[in-house]
Amino acid sequence: MLNKKTLEDVEVRGKRVLVRCDFNVPLDADGNITDENRIVGAMPTINYLVENGAKVILCSHMGKPKGEPVPSMSLAPVAKRLSEKLGKEVVFAADNEVVGENAKAAVAAMAEGDVVLLENTRYRKEETKNVAEFSAELASLADVFVNDAFGTAHRAHCSNVGVAEHLPAVGGYLINKEIEFLGNAVNNPVRPLVAVLGGSKVSSKISVIENLLKKVDKLIIGGGMAYTFKAAMGQKTGNSLLETDYIEYAKKMLEEAGDKIVLPIDTVVADDFNNDANTQIVEGDIPEGWEGLDIGPKSIELFKSVLADAKTVVWNGPMGVFEMSNFAKGTNEIAAMLAELDAVTVIGGGDSVAAVNQAGLGDKMSHISTGGGASLEFLEGKELPGIVALLDR
Ligand code: 3PG
Repeated sequence: MLNKKTLEDVEVRGKRVLVRCDFNVPLDADGNITDENRIVGAMPTINYLVENGAKVILCSHMGKPKGEPVPSMSLAPVAKRLSEKLGKEVVFAADNEVVGENAKAAVAAMAEGDVVLLENTRYRKEETKNVAEFSAELASLADVFVNDAFGTAHRAHCSNVGVAEHLPAVGGYLINKEIEFLGNAVNNPVRPLVAVLGGSKVSSKISVIENLLKKVDKLIIGGGMAYTFKAAMGQKTGNSLLETDYIEYAKKMLEEAGDKIVLPIDTVVADDFNNDANTQIVEGDIPEGWEGLDIGPKSIELFKSVLADAKTVVWNGPMGVFEMSNFAKGTNEIAAMLAELDAVTVIGGGDSVAAVNQAGLGDKMSHISTGGGASLEFLEGKELPGIVALLDR
């Protein structure tokens, strides 16, 4: 439970409520939204505010337009999709100034229960620098601020942190849900707690490994990161991803963690980085000219046996190059195992979420985080500025 005030702690009826969402969603070339997880995640807060007679002013960033209007990063497609989901019009305040004349007029015309979406906050160069003037402009539109943008909570920008200095600032349902699942999983888990880490780089996950090792019963490491650990055990890694600067670190981790860390015992190796490359399965040394692209069948069985007892699982990062079908087996099998497990399963991080969705198993998990960088920083044990800025309970 978040020890911060939430939208249910403030009066919203008749009030202008500025809601920071994370609508930074992927779009295809025609502007269609290809993954709605973040929009679906924002709906409970929006519905609550509409039902309780607030004037709901939504804002978000999209992509990195670097402080100027970029039409392909407009939030217009999000307004359209939100209107469909809500079953009522979400007025899009097209405005290159974000809080310019158009936005002000749209807000002035609102009745209770109306919804307006502002333009991409990153059209303004002040946004990512948390410049006070833009925060004050955003705040001038509203009486109350609700932050529901978990995916952006690791940033300290005008629209999620600066604005909170000017208005009563509370958390929305999505932020609460994320903190509840991620927080309980890591700090108050039903045990055994098993973390599964993958992805390409040890260097980007050092703080996560260190923080999780203090908390988990077992830490499974797969994906590209595993080869640096393999090298630390004195094995050859062929052409696999390897961070030579981190071999010593990996050695130290293995000494300290003992059998808490579980590593792959075999590897699917390929003679080229492409889906149609020749492959073989190897244990121990990876031959020169071959690179590891997925965990092997014995590793899958080992990881499954560790997961079988788990009552809480946190998963961040794929087990192999799951974007290529011939190297997706390890990731898919872990996803399928988690889908069947009688445990709290929390998926954090962009790639593992994509992998779970690609396998069509999203709705079988207890919680799929809407945060990539934010969930990683949360797992590192860091405080997230977007949450710190909210009123204490
Ligand atoms: C994300 O997609 O991780 C968030 O929306 C934050 O976006 P950013 O990395 O561009 O700040």
